[in-house]
Amino acid sequence: MSEKIVEFISDVMTAISNCSLYTREHPAVMHLSEMAVAVLDSLFFEDKFSVALFGDSLVINEQRLPARNMHVSSFIKKLRRKGIDKVVISRGVTAAELKDFIAEIALSDRITGTYAHISSGIIEVKLGGGGGGDIGAVMNENIEKVKEVYQGVSRFKRLDMVGLEDVVVSFITTLKQEANVLKVVSPIKAHSEYTYAHNNNVAVLSIFQAETLGVKHDLLHDIGMAGLLHDIGKMFVPATVLEKEAKLNDDEWVEMKKHPVYGAMYLATLPDIPKYALVAAYEHHMKFNGLGYPATRRKGRTQHIISQIISISDFFDALRTDRPYRKALDVPVIVGLLNDSAGKDFNPLLVENFIRALKKVSIFSS
Ligand SMILES: [Fe+2]
Ligand SMILES: [Fe+2]
Repeated sequence: MSEKIVEFISDVMTAISNCSLYTREHPAVMHLSEMAVAVLDSLFFEDKFSVALFGDSLVINEQRLPARNMHVSSFIKKLRRKGIDKVVISRGVTAAELKDFIAEIALSDRITGTYAHISSGIIEVKLGGGGGGDIGAVMNENIEKVKEVYQGVSRFKRLDMVGLEDVVVSFITTLKQEANVLKVVSPIKAHSEYTYAHNNNVAVLSIFQAETLGVKHDLLHDIGMAGLLHDIGKMFVPATVLEKEAKLNDDEWVEMKKHPVYGAMYLATLPDIPKYALVAAYEHHMKFNGLGYPATRRKGRTQHIISQIISISDFFDALRTDRPYRKALDVPVIVGLLNDSAGKDFNPLLVENFIRALKKVSIFSS
């Protein structure tokens, strides 16, 4: 039974990938939908086939699915990112109907279509912004979630990916309601909160940049995850250095500068981490001109474009916050500094895009 379920999920996931890669009308999408419907025939229980998300597992017809392969993991991730917590398929479903549902999962942000034999439960995502919600409260909740995940980090434990994925979904939804990213990023009040709130802000600013570049769907989520995890290596830096409320001395700086390596090494041990998160954790203090740290022996090494996006968000958020060794700067001043560093520290095209996008959604003079 379990094998048949995995076969069904594999057909559906392959159809979703084909839809994203080609079009919903690609013959492979219809063919895979037909295969999935044929497999489904033996899986109905009282004429229903129900799939529910429970933490990071699937519950099929009320029973936890013990089997797991790459397709099952991707399917779980896909459902979560679309805000779906349950899908029920009834006997009588046709391949054409399943194909339309698959296309919606592949190509739309949220499921809005109605289907005669397929129903889906949608998780309510808390919104800030337009709906009258309080962005500050939503962001504070997200900071608490990230803090919990970060504080639970150890070399011997899995990371709570479910919690982080939910935070990214909340950021993407909030940015749809409130275009002014400067209202979405959280002010950082307490020194002890800095690391957690900063990771959230870097995720929000990076999603904002990526969206203005036309990035959508899974890649947008992966960039959000890369933002949330970019400084995860700081959890392996001694607390005496990380939490020091004064300027770091030379030795302490040497220790602090190891966090990109610690982060990448830690993320490399975990399953289900978007590969860009690992790359960005390692590269976010490298510079566009090849300088920065960690120093590599590879000549002419360039940062991945996602690390370049994260670097800009990192710089922007760090400067708009009071630090033990300097006061927070105003947005126009930071924009001026970004412009000065374009082509040296940062990719100039990304800087130009970021500043143009910021000016579009907020009023500031520079
Ligand atoms: Fe960092
Ligand atoms: Fe950072």
